[in-house]
Amino acid sequence: MRNRFARSAVLLAGAFAMSCRQEAPEPRPEPAPAGTAARDVHSFSNPHEVLVKHLDLDWDVLFAERALKGSAVLTLERTAAGASAPLILDTKGLTIEKVETSADGKSFSPARFELGTQDKILGAALTIPLPPGSTSVRVTYSTGPDATALQWLEPAQTAGGKHPFLFTQSQAIHARSWIPLQDTPAARVTYTARVRTPKELFAVMSAQNEPKAARDGEYGFRMPQPIPAYLIALAVGDIAFAPLGARTGVYAEPSVLPRAAAEFADTEKMVEATERLFGPYRWERYDILVLPPSFPFGGMENPRLTFATPTILAGDKSLVALVAHELAHSWSGNLVTNATWRDFWLNEGCTTYIERRIVEEVYGLRRAEMEAVLGRQDLEKEIAKLPDQDEILHVDLSGRDPDDGFTDVPYEKGALFLRALEEIFGRERFDRFLRGYFDHFAFRSITTADFVSYLRKNLLEEDAERAVRVSLEEWIQSPGIPASAPRPSSDAFARVEEEARKWHSGRVPPEQIGTAAWTTQEWLLFLRGLPVPLATEKMAELDRAFRLTRSGNFEILFQWLLMAIQSRYEPAYGRLDEFLTGMGRRKYLKPLYEELVKTPEGRERALAIYREARAAYHPISAETVDKILRGER
Ligand code: BES
Ligand code: ZN
Repeated sequence: MRNRFARSAVLLAGAFAMSCRQEAPEPRPEPAPAGTAARDVHSFSNPHEVLVKHLDLDWDVLFAERALKGSAVLTLERTAAGASAPLILDTKGLTIEKVETSADGKSFSPARFELGTQDKILGAALTIPLPPGSTSVRVTYSTGPDATALQWLEPAQTAGGKHPFLFTQSQAIHARSWIPLQDTPAARVTYTARVRTPKELFAVMSAQNEPKAARDGEYGFRMPQPIPAYLIALAVGDIAFAPLGARTGVYAEPSVLPRAAAEFADTEKMVEATERLFGPYRWERYDILVLPPSFPFGGMENPRLTFATPTILAGDKSLVALVAHELAHSWSGNLVTNATWRDFWLNEGCTTYIERRIVEEVYGLRRAEMEAVLGRQDLEKEIAKLPDQDEILHVDLSGRDPDDGFTDVPYEKGALFLRALEEIFGRERFDRFLRGYFDHFAFRSITTADFVSYLRKNLLEEDAERAVRVSLEEWIQSPGIPASAPRPSSDAFARVEEEARKWHSGRVPPEQIGTAAWTTQEWLLFLRGLPVPLATEKMAELDRAFRLTRSGNFEILFQWLLMAIQSRYEPAYGRLDEFLTGMGRRKYLKPLYEELVKTPEGRERALAIYREARAAYHPISAETVDKILRGER
């Protein structure tokens, strides 16, 4: 554990210099020299010297001011290396009112502190010299108006339309914009929180929740399992609860709750399936919170309480692989955590692999394989556009926003890597390996090197004959997809492709395409398999037969709208406007805006839509679209 926090003295000196001299150049921690343990280049904090073990949080949620105001008490543990070191915390846009230290956690005395210069990506270091014997620090503060982790919604942006809503999104490095803390996934904390909200609202966190708590505007939380900062989460709004199973349930706005409960009816089964495969669920409860449509992600694996976009409520459970995915993070990610953001593939690749295994258990091999085929397609498409260095699993993100590492590579290439191991060593052997891996590293944060050495010892070295078929270098350090990578295939898809060809060449009318038994996954492959641009008459033919412009399935609708832009199919433009102004999921916004800006007319449309829509987008999505419209990648 200690090694993982190793940082150079130069870096710490830099952090200090920065806090004194405002004109100092931006502090960009240098990449770790080869051969030393990994350092987190996205945090100023020094957990290798002073480790924060626990947080006691206390806030007023002020909707009118769009701010959280309150305090964080941090319980500290000094390491041998940090005999006289100060405590250095990450912050971003926080207004620090006062800092106090304590030797007994009860009586606090005022302390000096220094806030460094603000880096656009990393925020500012908060340096607190510690009197000897200090065991805790209290920071009294408020969040800034542009806190990147917070989205404050007007009533009109919610399903009910009557109450405001607030939610947080801390991953990757946004926790520092609402809590002063060690914002590195290498460090873990337990926490408690007291949250005061307007009386009619309800608050939930990534912690023990009390669905039956009196709705009186005062809520208390306790998170007994240690988690990294990026998994601390809060939502406040008109939120109701419905149980799903013995230890599963769903939270949503009252009008969304029945639909959500029906969609997620298989959640308990998913938890059971994952336990059978990879060992015990160690977080007691698994609940899902459905957010308003501006939530910028599909899902976020906040422990005990996955946050999810309402765009997966298709009515037929066809998009619940997302639940399988976020649930899988309860093993890969939340239990065994990437130590730095360049190890992100350990979280997402492993999770995508497990997601498909859960789908296979609960919905059958056919569906899991179709999703694997779609995943490999996504990866190939992404890789065709990415610069070489971003195709590497162990990607170098120094000097960059870790959100830039959010591509299909850590997800799908990571998943293919694990699938390759499964195919080479056999499912039984590989499952045993993964189970052992979760036990061994439970509640710890690990680097790619830790993973590799565990893999060598516990799988590769046990069977040298098979191990020669695994090129770690190629999988982890090289761009592209290894030639030996698995190629998921599905005969369902072969049939769909054949139908697509027959219709496209004019041999059969759309009514005769055998779509009756098609699932969402088959529709997606069908649409993706058509050559674009399609002639307007062909688009219209499909639209007449299948009413695609009116589809209520967001995945299908997204695919169709993308084709509509590519084919300049004007009858879908109104729906495109609605789609882009009606939700803020980045995965949909990004490709649609990218496609629009390829032509001058499209660019005009994009700008006009964005002028209307931007205020409703989450800061993370707005930042992505801003870049597209400015012509940056
Ligand atoms: N942990 C991610 C979301 C994330 C990653 C947020 C990095 C911020 C930075 C989550 O588990 C995820 O992968 N969500 C996907 C859905 C999934 C089914 C692939 C998403 O939101 O698209
Ligand atoms: Zn994920």
